[in-house]
Amino acid sequence: MSVGDVPETVTAALADQQVEGQVCLEAGAGVGNTTAGLLAAGAKRVYAVTDDADHAATVRERVGDGNADRLAVVEADLRATPLGTGSVNLVTAHGLCNVLPPTALDAVAAELARVAKPDGHLVVDDYAVPPADGAVNRLFALENAAARAVDGRPALTFYPPAVLAAVFADHGWTVQRRKPLLDPVPWTEAHLNAHAVVVRGYADDLPDALGAPLTAMADDLVSAIGSERTGTMYSLAFRLAE
Ligand SMILES: C[S@@+](CC[C@H](N)C(=O)[O-])C[C@H]1O[C@@H](n2cnc3c(N)ncnc32)[C@H](O)[C@@H]1O
Repeated sequence: MSVGDVPETVTAALADQQVEGQVCLEAGAGVGNTTAGLLAAGAKRVYAVTDDADHAATVRERVGDGNADRLAVVEADLRATPLGTGSVNLVTAHGLCNVLPPTALDAVAAELARVAKPDGHLVVDDYAVPPADGAVNRLFALENAAARAVDGRPALTFYPPAVLAAVFADHGWTVQRRKPLLDPVPWTEAHLNAHAVVVRGYADDLPDALGAPLTAMADDLVSAIGSERTGTMYSLAFRLAE
């Protein structure tokens, strides 16, 4: 039944939500931080959805043991989630929106409203636009350049809370509360290395003449930045119209 460590940002975001006994959808399961938080808080069932097979395997390995009756890890695109209409009490999207380009965000917001029960709840946690003088911006810009070169869309988009509130409002969600989760965000060497790994992944798909300098620039930026405390992470809680 153990679900491992739950980050403080997840615990803080869920603290004022009814989780116990609820059917939950973790939209964008990643490495399973929020899935672990939902299970630890007594969710009746958690659908952990990701389009990344490695993430799905990580979540199964991390929290699958002892939770088979409460956890379903689903590999699917959140723009067409294989869940019934009006089937979920609580949707969470922790760190999802920054990896959704604007073209996908609206479709995901619509789909999350479709699967939620009338009067259902949604918690969206994400990063605000980092301050212009943040050194991490240089690494994020490089990551976006590499992503655009490979598949024509950015890897990262930082949405101001008012923008996410407006996009979700278009699909029936009303903001119930907003609160800071991190201020500043501690971008550790491990976080920055994870972004360099993403750049390397794109570089592998490019001709060496382009990919090799991108990889070298990412590694140089990680060394130069080291770690940095900048920007904020926020949480928005919504309720769906009945
Ligand atoms: C940064 S991680 C989220 C972290 C996670 N919520 C946690 O608490 O650990 C983003 C996740 O969203 C997934 N994702 C991004 N776009 C998606 C889409 N269109 N459909 C399904 N999953 C998507 C990624 O594959 C990844 O698993």
